[in-house]
Amino acid sequence: MNNENYAIRGGKEGYDRLKILSKILEPTTGKLFKRLGIAPGMRCLDVGCGTGDVSRLLAWCVKDTGKVEGWDIDEYCIETARVEAAKKGFDQIEFRKLDILAVAGESKFDVVYARFLLSHLPDPEKVIKALRDHLRPNGLLILEDVEFRGHFCYPDFDAFRDYVNLYSKVVKLKGGNANIGIKLPRMLTDARFTNVGVKVYQHSALTGDVKLMAGLTLENIGDSLLAANIISEYELKDLIRKLNSYARHDNTLMSLPRIVQTWGNA
Ligand SMILES: C[S@@+](CC[C@H](N)C(=O)[O-])C[C@H]1O[C@@H](n2cnc3c(N)ncnc32)[C@H](O)[C@@H]1O
Repeated sequence: MNNENYAIRGGKEGYDRLKILSKILEPTTGKLFKRLGIAPGMRCLDVGCGTGDVSRLLAWCVKDTGKVEGWDIDEYCIETARVEAAKKGFDQIEFRKLDILAVAGESKFDVVYARFLLSHLPDPEKVIKALRDHLRPNGLLILEDVEFRGHFCYPDFDAFRDYVNLYSKVVKLKGGNANIGIKLPRMLTDARFTNVGVKVYQHSALTGDVKLMAGLTLENIGDSLLAANIISEYELKDLIRKLNSYARHDNTLMSLPRIVQTWGNA
C-alpha cells in the first residue's frame, strides 16, 4: 500500500487529527499494555505509528533497557515523531519511514503492535503475516482496530449517520474495511496464534475532544470523497458544519467507533 490507498489525509493535517485521537485513546491503550505485561527490556515495534504517541507509550513501558521502533510510510509523521521523541528524551526509540509490506521480517521483536492500520489495507491476512514475520517465536502481536458501524449518538442525527456511512464507503473504495475490528480475533486464531484474547471498548462524551472527531475525520477524508465523486463540495461543507454544530451542544452525546483490542502469541 502507498499513500494513495489511504483514505485519510496524511501530512500535517492528518498528523494534527491523529494527535487529538491519540490523546483520547492513551488511557485505554496504556491499560492494554499494562494488562499484557509490556515490561522493561522488551523490544517492540509500532507499525503505522503515525504521531509516535503509542511508540512513546511503549518506550515508557520498556524503559531504558528496552528498544522501540516506530514505522510509518508518512514522511511528515516520521520526522515530527522523531523530533518530539528526542525533545522528550526517549533515546530508545527509532522512527523509520518504512512500508510494512516492503520489509522482510527478521523475527527480532518481542512485541509487534498496530493500531488502526489493518482497516486501511486491502489484504489484512497478508498484513498479519507480515507483522508476524517480525516477531520472535512466541512473541506477542497486539492489534487495535475499528468497528465503524458501532458509532452512536443521542439524539439521533442524520448527519452523524451520513458521516459513518461515508467513511465506511470511502475506506472500502480504497480497498480497506472500516468494520474489520470484530473479525480480528478470528483472523488471529485462523493464523494459528495462541492465547488469543479480546477486549472491546468505546469512548463517548457530552463535551470535549471526542465530539470533535466526527467533523475532523470527515474533513480529513474530504479529498478522497471528492475525488471519488461520492459527495459534492457543498454537501461536504454542509455536513461538516452540521456535525460541528451538533457537537457544540453539551446535551448531545457522541461516540467514537467501537474499538476492538486483540492479541495473541506467534
Ligand atoms: C489511522 S493511522 C493510525 C496511526 C497510529 N497507529 C495511531 O493509532 O494513532 C494509520 C497510519 O498507518 C500508516 N500506514 C498506512 N499504510 C502503511 C504501511 N503499509 N506501512 C506502514 N505504515 C502505514 C499511515 O501513514 C498512518 O500514519
